[in-house]
Amino acid sequence: MDVKVLAEAQKRGHEQVNFFYYPRFGLKAIVGIHNTVLGPALGGCRMRMYENESQAIDDVMRLSEGMTYKSSMAGLDLGGGKSILFADPAMSEGRREMFLKFAECLNHLNGRYITAEDMGTSVEDVMVMREITKFAAGYSMEKGGSGDPSPWTARGVFQAMQAACERRYGSKELKGKTVTVQGVGHVGMYLLEILKEAGAKFVVCDTNEASLRVAKEKFGAEVVSTDAIYDVQCNIYAPCAVGQTVNPQTIGRLKCDIIAGAANNQLLDSSLYAPIEEKKILYCPDFVINSGGVISVGGEYIEGGWNKNWVTQKVMAIYNTTHRVLDESERRKKFPEVVSIELAKERIKEAEERKLSRR
Ligand SMILES: NC(=O)c1ccc[n+]([C@@H]2O[C@H](COP(=O)([O-])OP(=O)(O)OC[C@H]3O[C@@H](n4cnc5c(N)ncnc54)[C@H](O)[C@@H]3O)[C@@H](O)[C@H]2O)c1
Repeated sequence: MDVKVLAEAQKRGHEQVNFFYYPRFGLKAIVGIHNTVLGPALGGCRMRMYENESQAIDDVMRLSEGMTYKSSMAGLDLGGGKSILFADPAMSEGRREMFLKFAECLNHLNGRYITAEDMGTSVEDVMVMREITKFAAGYSMEKGGSGDPSPWTARGVFQAMQAACERRYGSKELKGKTVTVQGVGHVGMYLLEILKEAGAKFVVCDTNEASLRVAKEKFGAEVVSTDAIYDVQCNIYAPCAVGQTVNPQTIGRLKCDIIAGAANNQLLDSSLYAPIEEKKILYCPDFVINSGGVISVGGEYIEGGWNKNWVTQKVMAIYNTTHRVLDESERRKKFPEVVSIELAKERIKEAEERKLSRR
């Protein structure tokens, strides 16, 4: 793989890509700012030992573009961005200094990009950055931040499940429906709580035995192996672990009517659109329905600071948004994921035109 920054920016429509290199502080970072028409580009900071530069560039460009569509579809006044740090996520020595330096870099960007926790980074890292920048989000509730985004993500996914059930079965009731929850980590476990309350049945899997015990003891979940999950006859398959679990090896095995889960990038690629449609599975695009987390984190930047009512309202709106996506998918005769990107771009275009007309 040989990824070229400018070619990639042109292909994906990035506004700005920044490289920061301060070897004295162990800082080697890339910040991708995809689009800021709706507002500052918000997106997490990944820390990873990338195998090579192309892999890092590909990650930051792809993920920052994805954030643009996620925030747009969530109705947020935020754009899409993402950052990556070339470093070992387990590093402890020099970690604080590196994050302080990175925070200084964010100040240079003057709010065009707001970072947050992501793979390899933690709330503690965010708190370090907060010492010198206000452009780091997702900090603790005790400090006035939004806290753990996972319960919000789970609530949003549930809203989408209700909308999909309404379309498929004529009622949004999940009572008596069977949901396979792949991964009972932060989001998956909150989802079980909501599903139980709604009277749904669930079958779960995870690689972590301790989580499975909690799912079984606290919520009465039925447990199957990580491979057997694909063969379970169910109404909804909810991927809540890792990406790309819907792929040529698994699609033939899935026995569900609906796919709706929290994981990012659930489909390996667009070659899965046709088999999903052939199986008459309703696919709820991941980035549309897992936006509860970014809504909550983004809530730190609204006037007056984070507030529960505002976040609740936006997360509940995922129900209507899912309906809209599925309606438009039928009307435009396009796969829900394709339509969602179109709708996200349309909102941005309208905002841009409004801005330009005021000039
Ligand atoms: N946390 C959020 O608010 C949020 C927001 C948007 C998207 N997501 C996405 O949702 C997914 C879950 O997020 P999370 O915060 O709950 O993560 P998490 O790490 O807390 O939970 C993931 C769980 O999946 C399990 N797992 C890993 N590999 C597995 C496999 N092959 N089969 C079954 N289980 C496996 C892990 O043991 C863990 O319990 C991730 O893909 C994440 O990117 C999360």
